Amino acid sequence: MATMSLANTRTDFGAVARTLHWMTALLILTALPLGLVAERWPMATEAELAAKVTLFSLHKTLGVVAFLIALARILWALVQPRPVPLHPERRAETFLADTVHWALYLSMLLAPLTGWVHHAATTGFAPIWWPFGQRLPFVPVDEGLAHLAGGLHGVFVYVLLGAILLHVAGALKHHLVDRDDTLRRMLPGRRATPARTAAPVRHGLVPAVAALALYGLATAGALALMRDTAPASVLGPVETGWQVEEGTLAITIRQMGAEVAGRFETWTAAIAFDETPEAGSHGRVEVDIAIESLRLGSVTAQAMGADFFDAANHPTARFEAEILPEGEAYLARGTLTLRGVTLPMDLPFTLQIDGDRAVMEATATLDRLAFGIGASQPGEGTLGHGVTVDVALTARRLR
Ligand code: HEM
Ligand code: HEM
Repeated sequence: MATMSLANTRTDFGAVARTLHWMTALLILTALPLGLVAERWPMATEAELAAKVTLFSLHKTLGVVAFLIALARILWALVQPRPVPLHPERRAETFLADTVHWALYLSMLLAPLTGWVHHAATTGFAPIWWPFGQRLPFVPVDEGLAHLAGGLHGVFVYVLLGAILLHVAGALKHHLVDRDDTLRRMLPGRRATPARTAAPVRHGLVPAVAALALYGLATAGALALMRDTAPASVLGPVETGWQVEEGTLAITIRQMGAEVAGRFETWTAAIAFDETPEAGSHGRVEVDIAIESLRLGSVTAQAMGADFFDAANHPTARFEAEILPEGEAYLARGTLTLRGVTLPMDLPFTLQIDGDRAVMEATATLDRLAFGIGASQPGEGTLGHGVTVDVALTARRLR
């Protein structure tokens, strides 16, 4: 058998292009089913959760490698001649093949990249197995961005899948119906018989534009889908005393030894507060929290499940407390009702009042098991027992 050159020729793919082609194909065809399986894997028990984390880590690691090899492959293709189609006179077929190739090139980059940005922007739980850290330059940790990138990943991987199916159908048609050398000249080791025409073939820009338009459509579709699930961020009106202008209600848990931070986007606080205490009390506070507005990195959906917050049966949590003096600061002493369980809770806080504006900050730690959250995961190693709650708000005095 004649030896194959490393570089492409006008009629044949070289060894480098072939190797890179089959490496990307193998990596993508492994990462894709892994993503589908990992996404649907249950996490009701600790063993299931551990397996799910492993599946996702494997998925992400292979995906990152697929991205890097795809990048190398595209750089290589840019400096190489492209073997001419074996039947350039079949205009429609060549156009379709070119369009699918462009869609594949875009997908090879955009599908893993959106997954990677999602991972880097969120506080997740399944790490990429590699020594370069979990973040990406220019990608801030931001739940909104993570949500966007995750949504795009979920759509782009299906565009990639569709393009692969068309691509494989085309390759098989060449091999089985046309019985030409198209597949053979991509397979390792085989040398193609020279094409009937080695004359330059014009690859128009239209297929590239068509593939880009496809991505434009997919992006628009993803954005439309996400609009329905976009996190709401409304602080409702209060009845008494002080109007909350802005605030954050954040929680931090430890999952698989790593901190996962999240926040409730929707809650209201009704505050009646007087600087001078009356009968030992500065007033009252009532906070209502929409459980479904919690954004907790990549485990947001799981946190809503029956075993965790059980949002379907307990859509809101409520904190009611009396505001007591405590040295220089204050103490909100009352009860927290969460997941149908009401327990006493003390929330020490500091308050800076400047005219009609007040800035309040508080931190407390709750025991999730006391509220029956994640009872199937009693181990501290998988899911820590202590949940840190951080509250910060600015309120304006109502006149
Ligand atoms: C060629 C590369 C990749 C392919 C083909 C791929 C494919 C997939 C598929 C099919 C799903 C399931 C979607 C569904 O069930 O609706 C998925 C989910 C996911 N992938 Fe990838 N993926 C790739 C790369 C990556 C990379 C590099 C990362 C991160 C570093 C990543 C992170 C994720 C995450 C976090 C999910 C779950 C999405 C969510 O819950 O919103 N993927 N991927
Ligand atoms: C799963 C991921 C795959 C991706 C992302 C992919 C991508 C591509 C791309 C972008 C090209 C253009 C050639 C270039 O300029 O380098 C190509 C060529 C080719 N691919 Fe794939 N491919 C995949 C899987 C497959 C499979 C499973 C087969 C066979 C059943 C196949 C058969 C071919 C053939 C025969 C060519 C040469 C086409 C020609 O001569 O114009 N590919 N592939």
